[in-house]
Amino acid sequence: MNIDKAYNIWADQYDTNSNKTRDLDTKSTIETLNKFEFSSVIELGCGTGKNTIFLLKKADEIIGLDFAQEMLNKAKNKIKDERVEFRKADLTAEWNIENNYADLITCSLVLEHIENLNFVFNQANKKLKNGGLFFISELHPFKQYSGSKAKFETENGTQELETYVHHISEYLEVANENGFELLELKEWFDEENKSGIPRLIGITLLKKYCGQHRI
Ligand SMILES: C[S@@+](CC[C@H](N)C(=O)[O-])C[C@H]1O[C@@H](n2cnc3c(N)ncnc32)[C@H](O)[C@@H]1O
Repeated sequence: MNIDKAYNIWADQYDTNSNKTRDLDTKSTIETLNKFEFSSVIELGCGTGKNTIFLLKKADEIIGLDFAQEMLNKAKNKIKDERVEFRKADLTAEWNIENNYADLITCSLVLEHIENLNFVFNQANKKLKNGGLFFISELHPFKQYSGSKAKFETENGTQELETYVHHISEYLEVANENGFELLELKEWFDEENKSGIPRLIGITLLKKYCGQHRI
């Protein structure tokens, strides 16, 4: 099923249905980002604002981008805070945000829906300040190899979404080509199956300093 259409339908149950991937992402996002300070944040594919609530504990301003209006409506109804602006935008087109705006960009459970990682990483580099962080939390490619993908139940049966597999090497190569260095790579497992296939991969990248200021 087409991605934005699917999320417009899924929006009604996204926060409430049983979803191990969503719940583990909440944990990985909080545990990873609690270690850092940040002020200006761009949240890519913010959805219903599940992680915005945590980000607001530290941030002074957040721009949440998503192309599914119904997901954004849920976020807007849930979070009424003048520090947050939820905007309808397709991440595969130029992001309408000033360059060097953010000290943190987060991207949770979105990249499996985006074929061309290079465009997203290129935009992320432009919108981040030097030394800014790009945090990615994604369905682990090992999980994808075993057939997992975003899906939800409707009265007409299971709806599977359009997805793309990104290998770990691809994430790291695209990051390097777009001026990022790897700060941390973590794999997240289901609590009840720690010796199984990891469910999520968490990648924290640092935008390198340019020219003489390179660290
Ligand atoms: C699985 S949800 C994750 C939502 C939120 N980040 C979270 O962790 O709960 C994926 C979100 O990415 C959005 N998305 C996927 N592809 C997108 C694109 N090309 N542009 C903007 N949003 C996109 C979907 O509309 C959806 O809200």
